[in-house]
Amino acid sequence: MENNTYFCKKKMDILVFGGKGQLGQAIKQIADNYVYTFNFSDADTVDLCHPDLLEEYLSRTKFDIIFNCAAYTNVDGAEEHQEICKQLNISAPEIMAKYCKQKNKVLFHISSDYVFDGSGSTPLKEGDPTSPCNFYGMTKLEGEKAILNYNPAGFILRVSGLVSPYGKNFFLTMKDLLETKEEVSVVSTQTTKLTSAVELAKVMIRLIGKESAGTTILHFANRHPMTWYDFAVMINEHIHSKCAIRSVAEYPQKAVRPQYSVLDTSKIEDEYNISIKRIDDVINKIISQQ
Ligand SMILES: NC(=O)c1ccc[n+]([C@@H]2O[C@H](COP(=O)([O-])OP(=O)(O)OC[C@H]3O[C@@H](n4cnc5c(N)ncnc54)[C@H](OP(=O)(O)O)[C@@H]3O)[C@@H](O)[C@H]2O)c1
Repeated sequence: MENNTYFCKKKMDILVFGGKGQLGQAIKQIADNYVYTFNFSDADTVDLCHPDLLEEYLSRTKFDIIFNCAAYTNVDGAEEHQEICKQLNISAPEIMAKYCKQKNKVLFHISSDYVFDGSGSTPLKEGDPTSPCNFYGMTKLEGEKAILNYNPAGFILRVSGLVSPYGKNFFLTMKDLLETKEEVSVVSTQTTKLTSAVELAKVMIRLIGKESAGTTILHFANRHPMTWYDFAVMINEHIHSKCAIRSVAEYPQKAVRPQYSVLDTSKIEDEYNISIKRIDDVINKIISQQ
């Protein structure tokens, strides 16, 4: 069992929103290794699109920390379903932040590299100017601002490209295509870092007790930067399919994507003593466990 210094003082109850999502399932996977009590909530427990239901749920639920892993995450769908996207990515975190500030609770919220426009060419630091290039990114940025407005103790963790054995993600989709198709086309003009959902879950737990009075923004992603094409090639090196991988400059999608959204993770590494794995090792582990 792992624990943090904070635990020695008080046993913590963690309320996880988005319990059935990719990150929520990753937290479930490792939860038993820790001494904390986790309460996983999903859309059937409380519909986060209804502010009154969320407020009522928060007031009748015992917790010390919220892990908000719930969000509207369909980047192309967000261009069309703007209202629900705003409810989940802006209003719900705002209500959580207000409640946490009032009741002296802690909020850990997950945000995205898509708060940046992707026009740069050097890794993005927490204080760099934000300017989303699509609706999803705009709502993730507004969600951050809504939290910072109340400024509860806790963290906003910006991450990029989640990968895990759960839900829907590029890794699972590409692995399936590589195993079933003769040729796939993958974009080689967008550079990012991938983030292991399980590694992120571990980081969230390691950060418990390290929060200060207000909200701190941190970047977390696994190393090293790569294009989606590079990532497809890496997956294929692990599964040895015969599928040809063709590099393309563009892939038709409804929402614009940032061309360069590489998160600089030196703050979380240097100031919070978090060591970061290579994505290659993460993928190797997921594949060997399947
Ligand atoms: N996926 C990525 O590549 C990526 C990249 C950067 C940042 N992020 C951020 O990382 C976080 C976790 O992402 P993820 O990939 O784990 O997301 P996900 O798999 O799409 O899960 C989202 C969760 O939100 C919940 N949810 C949706 N609508 C809801 C509603 N009306 N009421 C209550 N819950 C609702 C879903 O619940 P049900 O399953 O019960 O419907 C689901 O558990 C999000 O904040 C996301 O913006 C993700």
